[in-house]
Amino acid sequence: MPTSTLIRNGTVVTATETRPADVLIEGERIKEVRAGLPVEGVDRVIDAAGLYVLPGGIDAHTHLDMPFGGTTSADDFLTGTRAAAFGGTTSLVDFAIQARGTRMRDALDTWWKKAEGKAAIDYGLHMIVTDLGGAGLEDMDDVVAEGVASFKLFMAYPNVLMVDDGTIFKALSQTAKNGALICMHAENGSVIDVIIARALAEGKTAPIYHALTRPPRAEAEAVHRAIALAEIAGAPVYIVHLSSEDALNQVREARDRGVPAFAETCPQYLLLSIEELERPNFEGAKYVFTPPLRPKEHQPKLWDGLKDDHLQVVSTDHCPFCFADQKILGKDDFTKIPNGGPGIENRLQLIYHHGVNAGKISLNRFVEITSTTPARIFGMYPRKGEIAPGSDADVVLWDPAALYTISAQTHHMRVDYSMFEGYEVKGNARTVISRGEVIVDNGEFLGKPGRGQYLKRTARGGAWK
Ligand code: URP
Ligand code: ZN
Ligand code: ZN
Repeated sequence: MPTSTLIRNGTVVTATETRPADVLIEGERIKEVRAGLPVEGVDRVIDAAGLYVLPGGIDAHTHLDMPFGGTTSADDFLTGTRAAAFGGTTSLVDFAIQARGTRMRDALDTWWKKAEGKAAIDYGLHMIVTDLGGAGLEDMDDVVAEGVASFKLFMAYPNVLMVDDGTIFKALSQTAKNGALICMHAENGSVIDVIIARALAEGKTAPIYHALTRPPRAEAEAVHRAIALAEIAGAPVYIVHLSSEDALNQVREARDRGVPAFAETCPQYLLLSIEELERPNFEGAKYVFTPPLRPKEHQPKLWDGLKDDHLQVVSTDHCPFCFADQKILGKDDFTKIPNGGPGIENRLQLIYHHGVNAGKISLNRFVEITSTTPARIFGMYPRKGEIAPGSDADVVLWDPAALYTISAQTHHMRVDYSMFEGYEVKGNARTVISRGEVIVDNGEFLGKPGRGQYLKRTARGGAWK
């Protein structure tokens, strides 16, 4: 592998500026960024004329090789990270799950093993907390020391992953001390379960009832409660996969009061709506994930939220299940459809095309919400999410003129459908560099399974910006 690489003639785009500049990479890091860098003595020169030079994308919410809903998500750490790389994502943060009654360290070991020999890009791990009995609070500190700078707790999925308010409050209080960040799946699971039981009793078993039994107010209520509990604990909080205007209003209201509340949304909530679940022949099941898709009117509100910084991050919540042999588990009962959808490969294409090309967000904001802010919030900045001397040489050469049609026929995710089948986008990753190594070039994967490193992240103690 060349030890030095010069990216010439491109336009460097960061969260704060757009300028013509060359980028010199030495080993795994960026050495220098300025116009007119000399080519003499450089091992490899890449011409980036007509291309944007972006910091590699960071997907802060993925579920690779995850047991869920009686099956396991279809992408493992090899197929999932490879697909991510094709789309210009060079780091992700996945979720280890603490099984009830077990130690968090065991979950960490299990997920490290899942990634070993497979991950093709760098990865961090959040810890899903299911149990704070016994040594739970000590365990939180223990895994923070191992670079787990964030935890996810569920206010949904009773009897599976849901924890009560006391547990949430204890976890938030612990992070107020150890500087980690609590991520909340915010939906009122107990109320939703009652609504689901009523629907099933009335014979309502089709995929659409997944959405109709999880109203936006159930999300908004939980977001409100999560933020209130965080305020009492004196800790920041991050709402994952926010899907509705109702929930967004809660985040905005809190942020307007100066509360450190943060939230992400996902391409599916920005671009798809509840009608997808009514597709015939059970195809609505392809769009069963949680929170569910909402009526179309929510979409412009979410885009505005991203533009105005009421929402800070776009991640994918990539959790793929094949239609033919996994989604089908819920053929006669929507509650048995494994919850989740694929998206790890298409995040940058979709947000660039429908955000930047459509004039909804600026180019710099695109970089900020897909790379720089996730790096900051999740304790990876400035190693990741930046084009600057000293940062990891995770660089995407983005072709703003490339035309691409998203399809399950050509995607690299190990799943038999695309939520965005037939979507045409303008703008795509041409060359993807991870720690100085070209891992994707012109549609060819050049990375090696297992080359991705575990990211030991720093608990930032609320110093996000
Ligand atoms: O339906 C979803 N979102 N599946 C993944 C698990 C989660 O709640 O994030
Ligand atoms: Zn969730
Ligand atoms: Zn998720």
